[in-house]
Amino acid sequence: MQEKSIISVRNLVKRFGNRVVLEGITLEIPEGKISVIMGGSGCGKSTFLRHLIGLYQPDEGEILIDGQNIVGLAERPMNAVKRKFGMLFQGAALFNSLTVAENVALPIREHTDLSDEIIKIIVKVKLELVGLTGFENFMPHQISGGMKKRVALARAIALDPKIVFYDEPGAGLDPITASMIDQLILDLSRKLKITSVVVSHEMKSAFRIADQMIVLHRGKVLEVGTGPQIQNTKNPYIRQFINGEPEGAIPFIQTSDAYLKGLLQN
Ligand SMILES: Nc1ncnc2c1ncn2[C@@H]1O[C@H](COP(=O)(O)OP(=O)(O)O)[C@@H](O)[C@H]1O
Ligand SMILES: [Mg+2]
Repeated sequence: MQEKSIISVRNLVKRFGNRVVLEGITLEIPEGKISVIMGGSGCGKSTFLRHLIGLYQPDEGEILIDGQNIVGLAERPMNAVKRKFGMLFQGAALFNSLTVAENVALPIREHTDLSDEIIKIIVKVKLELVGLTGFENFMPHQISGGMKKRVALARAIALDPKIVFYDEPGAGLDPITASMIDQLILDLSRKLKITSVVVSHEMKSAFRIADQMIVLHRGKVLEVGTGPQIQNTKNPYIRQFINGEPEGAIPFIQTSDAYLKGLLQN
């Protein structure tokens, strides 16, 4: 891709004990676009994302966010970088004792000196953006799972971030609600030019939203391309993955044959 990168990752290596979980990841995230990081369970997607938000330090490599290397960065400059991004965690992670509006207001109170009046207006605008006008005074237990995700999204964009990270945004939602969240990600990207980095193993969702797809496999980048490029890949692992087939040749038929033979012998 020709676009300007807002995130550049170079040779990122992460070990837990003597297990290598990320094996030298190098990739570019284009500004204002939606990048989806895909791959099977346990391939390192969440671990990779945690490095991008400064939660984990790598053993090797560089992570440039908006030109700044965040590897080994001190707390103060890291906090300045953190102001540039929002994060939607798997599970909405709302505070149950706070109203919807108070949840969205939290990062604004934490990071700015804005007056209550101004904060109220910002919260209203953010809730409007995610389609939750009028839900300010609801408590988290009074709204559905999809609505909670939307509140969490309003909170993630409360400080007008340049980048929003999402870890499995559709997880635990029914398909219709999940596709509404996809639509919101698309809207935020197209209307507000927010760069989105989405971790997902949901193929349908990935193809619906991605400008760029990055396929990880066992801690390595297997392939990078647009949706159509990945759709037409010749890589047998990715083919299998996007078609939802089990990994390797699992001898289902053999197993049931053996089972039947076993039955007949008795
Ligand atoms: N804090 C940790 N300590 C040890 N191993 C970890 C830790 N976090 C993740 N892992 C391991 O790293 C691998 C990748 O995990 P993860 O990034 O969560 O995968 P994914 O999100 O793709 O399902 C897994 O084998 C997991 O057990
Ligand atoms: Mg994960």
